[in-house]
Amino acid sequence: MRETGLKNKVVIVTGAAAGIGRATARRFAEEGARVAGWDVKEDAAAAFVHEMNAAGGEGLFQAVDVTHAKSVQDGVQQVVSRWGTASVLVNNAGILRDAQLIRYKDGAVAGMMSDEAFDAVVGVNLRGVFLCTRTVVPHMIEAGGGVILNASSVVGLYGNFGQTNYVATKAGVIAMARTWARELGKYNIRVNAVAPGFIATEMVKGMPEKVLQSMRDHTPMGRMGEPNDIAEAYVWLASDRASFVSGAVISVDGGIVTGT
Ligand code: NAI
Repeated sequence: MRETGLKNKVVIVTGAAAGIGRATARRFAEEGARVAGWDVKEDAAAAFVHEMNAAGGEGLFQAVDVTHAKSVQDGVQQVVSRWGTASVLVNNAGILRDAQLIRYKDGAVAGMMSDEAFDAVVGVNLRGVFLCTRTVVPHMIEAGGGVILNASSVVGLYGNFGQTNYVATKAGVIAMARTWARELGKYNIRVNAVAPGFIATEMVKGMPEKVLQSMRDHTPMGRMGEPNDIAEAYVWLASDRASFVSGAVISVDGGIVTGT
């Protein structure tokens, strides 16, 4: 079988302190990669580095806020100074701020999605992906290639109640992946999106049990996914085994389809 080609590769994972990002960083480390974990949760730093080194890779934790261009630039600069380049970027950082567009009750508007909720989610989930990718790509071009992976979601494909902001960003990162696949293929840069179903992370675990049960009921595999289920897809897509896969959206969702 073809090698993964990930040993000593330089991988940046955004939102790497927790959940899917943390599991993804660890899976890359298991492949022998050098992994820079970016997050606003700085208290994860020491444990992150220890975990990556113990997994067989080399870890670097950086306090990078993906919504701030300067923070992203500094982050990339530090990675390049230390390891010479950046080969893989996993645009994983994401947030939720759920609310209905308009909540109408007893003949009057009783609530709505606020400007702040809309802008915050677009800032991290869409603008953050744009900023990180724009900053990393020149280094990939100079190095002769690279891989960019965007965190989408099944809700970016199907829509979801109460998630106007989130769904718009998750559809947006698919559109950006397809656009970048077209623009960057000539530089040997592959760009793909992963659309997870419902994955058991802090983001989801805080939801009411009724909602969680409904998620399981809507998933043909009858369970929620684990962070490692998604990490595995990212590692494969970044590896040489997926060397002809670009502009794709890979669903990793236990078979979920709307209406089931
Ligand atoms: P999580 O909430 O467990 O972890 C997200 C991480 O991103 C956190 O450590 C957080 O501090 C970090 N983050 C937030 N804002 C940031 C910023 N401005 N700069 C840098 N880091 C920031 O989330 P989870 O569940 O691991 O999700 C990861 C990605 O997968 C997200 O993009 C999410 O939208 C997506 N996803 C998750 C699904 C799920 O069911 N958990 C389903 C579909 C997609």
